Amino acid sequence: MRPDPLVVFTPSGKRGRFAKGTPVLTAARQLGVDLDSVCGGRGICSKCQITPSYGEFSKHGVTVAPDALTEWNSVEQRYDDKRGLKPGRRLGCQACVMGDVVIDVPPESQVHRQVVRKAASARPIIMDAATRLYYIEVAEPDMHEPTGDLERIARALREQWQIPGITTDLSTLSRLQPVLRKGGWKVTVALHKTSETALPRLVSIWPGLHEKGLYGLAIDLGSTTIAAHLTDLETGLVVASSGIMNPQIRYGEDLMSRVSYAMMNPGGDREMTTAVREAIDTLAIDIAREADVDPALILELVFVCNPVMHHLLLGIDPVELGQAPFALATSDALNLEARELGLSSLPPSSNVYILPCIAGHVGADAAAVALSEEPGKSEDLVLIVDVGTNAELLLGNTSRVLACSSPTGPAFEGAQISSGQRAAPGAIEAIRIDPVTREPRFRIIGSELWSDEDGFDLAAAASGITGICGSGIIEAVAELRLAGLMDPSGLLGSAEQTGSPRMIPEGRTHAYVIHDGTAEGGPLITVTQGDIRAIQLAKSALYAGARLLMDEMGVDTVDRVVLAGAFGAHISAKHAVVLGMIPDVPLDKVTSAGNAAGTGARIALCNLAARAEIERVVRRITKVETAIEPRFQEHFVAANAIPHKTDPFSELAKIVTLPNVSFNASGDREGRRRRRSS
Ligand code: FES
Repeated sequence: MRPDPLVVFTPSGKRGRFAKGTPVLTAARQLGVDLDSVCGGRGICSKCQITPSYGEFSKHGVTVAPDALTEWNSVEQRYDDKRGLKPGRRLGCQACVMGDVVIDVPPESQVHRQVVRKAASARPIIMDAATRLYYIEVAEPDMHEPTGDLERIARALREQWQIPGITTDLSTLSRLQPVLRKGGWKVTVALHKTSETALPRLVSIWPGLHEKGLYGLAIDLGSTTIAAHLTDLETGLVVASSGIMNPQIRYGEDLMSRVSYAMMNPGGDREMTTAVREAIDTLAIDIAREADVDPALILELVFVCNPVMHHLLLGIDPVELGQAPFALATSDALNLEARELGLSSLPPSSNVYILPCIAGHVGADAAAVALSEEPGKSEDLVLIVDVGTNAELLLGNTSRVLACSSPTGPAFEGAQISSGQRAAPGAIEAIRIDPVTREPRFRIIGSELWSDEDGFDLAAAASGITGICGSGIIEAVAELRLAGLMDPSGLLGSAEQTGSPRMIPEGRTHAYVIHDGTAEGGPLITVTQGDIRAIQLAKSALYAGARLLMDEMGVDTVDRVVLAGAFGAHISAKHAVVLGMIPDVPLDKVTSAGNAAGTGARIALCNLAARAEIERVVRRITKVETAIEPRFQEHFVAANAIPHKTDPFSELAKIVTLPNVSFNASGDREGRRRRRSS
């Protein structure tokens, strides 16, 4: 007797023998091949598309005859007429096996498809959405066998999809009856699971086959900005990204000033909660409009945020986070419904997932960075620095991962800098100072040209040259040091001391003129002594945090550094090391991960298993508290020098020679005061 036909699926390589007449979808399911279906094989959803291959396949030991599958049928023809099937494609639920066959499952037909990422080094996202669609045919009510509509939906899911039970909430329950009747008892339901083993929750329902998709929002709730990515929950593709300023800024620039606002003003925490929730509502509506997506289809939200934002989003007074022992109301991940956060622009039963916090100062944003960058899977010792108003640091390898946060303040973002501005067209983002002439040249956001190149003036005319953004100020300070215009203590020299007329008096100190646009009514853009002090404070806090983690790990060096955060993407590795922002490593060991917290949010949005993974990983991360650690202060003071008072920075010395200048003995008041106090 001839054996049953052999079916080989690619790219999985799964194979098995099936009786003639078995639908390809059934064969795929029995072998555990990842082939999608929303309609359960009724030939109406087209999710099960496959591509059979014919001919000789020595690799698989199979010859596929032209009649290996049943003939193209009327259901496929109807679908092709209506929507069009790509040439060579068949519907897996309609085509049946008749002989040995090799079947390719294209990426669009895989539930667990990989999301295309822009950067080759970036972690791929595998789709495994927590909310899925199921088309069902529900039994009509029968007076002789009284059951509720919900119970008959549950029975249809059990019989047609082997889903053992469901729960729902009142807002969805109230929509069931009209939708069931409108759909003629044929409906599509969206079921959400909080974990692989949890009972699914019915979160939405549509008449007939729902073909408009499902969407989710990955939200990076920062102290300064709120960024959101609207993501297709079937493909994982971001259909729109948008951001707005966090309106809580009016209550305080940084986290601690917001905590103090809550402490000093009764009801202040509630004001900030209302402000941020309203902003998220506005952002959700705007981003849905931009992508032409009905907000009713946004059924999931994932938030990453620092602990203070976390508490204020949840409506929890953050006062405990302002004082030792910095107790969180909860550090666990949370699953809520949009209604509980008062988000009125979205369906009330949309699921809100908030990543776990690592500690009172290290939040769900750092957890998201850990999810995206996976320090615990790194063979070499990696330091991940998420630079923002507050810097989060992770240090680890396969043996251990440590985390802390460091209060860098907003200087790295261009705030509290005399000519500072946010990253926008016209802002100086890169600068070089000639070590001989001490003349600057720079680039502004919005133009690829350097200021000494032909065409720059024309390119800059539209935006003007308006200020310096975060990456620009870091480069400027490092370049001042490289050009010998600033000494290791951070003191700027005078015009006489440096021989540069660009050093102008600024009160009792000096400032370096990068660009003077005053003749045309533009700004005078300088780096002042105060700017340098602000950057020194920020970089010392960052470096001290890193050193504290290295102490805890028992090491003096790290193998590589990853700069994360939207701003991290623009920092030049060389300038970061010259400044002593990060530990001394070879420059080719410094990489940028872009917005790793946002990426972590997207991973958690698209992949249910990743949520379980980060919840597990966070429990194993050792938290180091900078605020109460006396060595933090020591490291902070030593890190004030540029690049550092005691650490040798020998890797840096291999590529640059830092000028041996000192402006302390200049006779100026600053110098005298510093000498007296030392
Ligand atoms: S499973 Fe829906 S069309 Fe085949």
